[in-house]
Amino acid sequence: TQATIGLIGLGTMGAALALNIAEKGFPVAVWNRTTAVTRRFHAEAGALADRVIPTESLVELVAAIAPPRAIILMVPAGPAVDDQIAALAPLLGPEDLVIDAGNANFHDTDRRASAGLPMRFLGMGVSGGEEGARHGPAIMGGGARADWDRIAPVMQAIAARAEDGTPCATWMGEAGAGHFVKTVHNGIEYADMQMIAEVYGLMRDGLGLPAAAIGETFAGWNQGALKSYLVEISAAVAAAADPLTGAPMLDVILDAAGQKGTGRWTAIEAQHLAAPIPVIEAAVMARNVSARIAERQAGEARFGATPQPLDLTPDQLEQALIAGKILCYAQGFAMIEAAGRAFGWQLDLPGIARVWRAGCIIRSAMLNDMATALAEDPSRNLVLAPFFAEKLEIAMPALRAVVARGITAGHALPALASGLGWFDMMRTGRGTANMIQAQRDFFGAHGFDRLDGRDSHHGPWGAKA
Ligand code: 6PG
Repeated sequence: TQATIGLIGLGTMGAALALNIAEKGFPVAVWNRTTAVTRRFHAEAGALADRVIPTESLVELVAAIAPPRAIILMVPAGPAVDDQIAALAPLLGPEDLVIDAGNANFHDTDRRASAGLPMRFLGMGVSGGEEGARHGPAIMGGGARADWDRIAPVMQAIAARAEDGTPCATWMGEAGAGHFVKTVHNGIEYADMQMIAEVYGLMRDGLGLPAAAIGETFAGWNQGALKSYLVEISAAVAAAADPLTGAPMLDVILDAAGQKGTGRWTAIEAQHLAAPIPVIEAAVMARNVSARIAERQAGEARFGATPQPLDLTPDQLEQALIAGKILCYAQGFAMIEAAGRAFGWQLDLPGIARVWRAGCIIRSAMLNDMATALAEDPSRNLVLAPFFAEKLEIAMPALRAVVARGITAGHALPALASGLGWFDMMRTGRGTANMIQAQRDFFGAHGFDRLDGRDSHHGPWGAKA
């Protein structure tokens, strides 16, 4: 039998995805640059081995797939993708389809989609880590709708399913739309993780709780409004002990965050779009600061920033995290809305909330309600949706207390604080940018609009002192 689909790149994600495809009943032809990896993968595929067709050259791979062919690339984002496309080009026909399933920069996907490639091309965001790829990721497809429709049966079969049974595999829009949505997903992932880390810090340094107690607190939160994969794994990591020393695992892990760039891309793109996503930007900033360990230690030696004990309850922290999360997602969805307009994509916001409900790293109970709220009016900011406005009315006092007291006591809360700052601007009908406008007019005659609508657009600064 010929394979339904091919897959190139048997690293962690590629291998897991190939097994998932085989398990769902689709014969999959695989190829890896290193043949030994392909052979080992096949040898270790167990019961699925008869649906895995190992190949040792690209010619063999292409011949093993039923035409018109579909081939998933699971290779590192960047030049490796272009190289692989170039290597496949002479072997494929115009109806064959290459699907880049890595974490591509969506600008690269846009470029590839309009490069006049000799084959069809899709860019596809896949979220859920190794476990997700193996048993059900969330899949965000981008490119020509007809190409997506060709592979949709396979993608929907391997994807996670939301509680209502809907597969989390959806076409997002043309060209780079799928990778764009995946990038914002990752920006939100960074923000969720950072806010959890900040609240963890408040419990550790402000409430003096040991890791095990923090783990129990997270586990409790995971039963309520914060129910989500990231809170669930935070409970698990806080509860874990180091096999080498017996100490809490968290207490032996170096506090310098890694990153592969997707969060940064989200922040950069938000700036291009003039879309305010301060919580995500703060999370990217915080990863960058975390990596500068020597600088931070010098700072502590000079300024002695050890945070002070705090008078806050775990309930307040939970409410603060609920508020921060709503604010962050509101920013993320508003950015997606702005990108849809800027790039001419028909991005379906409720559909995006739905695709994130299962399989992906930011899956959470709240996304169900977000999908409902966005369906009511996708262009209205989520904080103004009645359901979430009511949640915020309850949770904002806690976020305010947590940020105010936390900052007063010397705790670093960049993400939570930036969410609060944004919210306070968002609910201020008469802000302070009149001062900015006056300054711009003063030094550059840039002009301003008047509140009273009169036709006078410059201030009386002619006789500058
Ligand atoms: C996912 C994740 C994944 C990402 C890792 C690491 O949705 O499965 O977003 O794609 O690559 O989480 O990302 P960083 O190294 O940037 O933290």
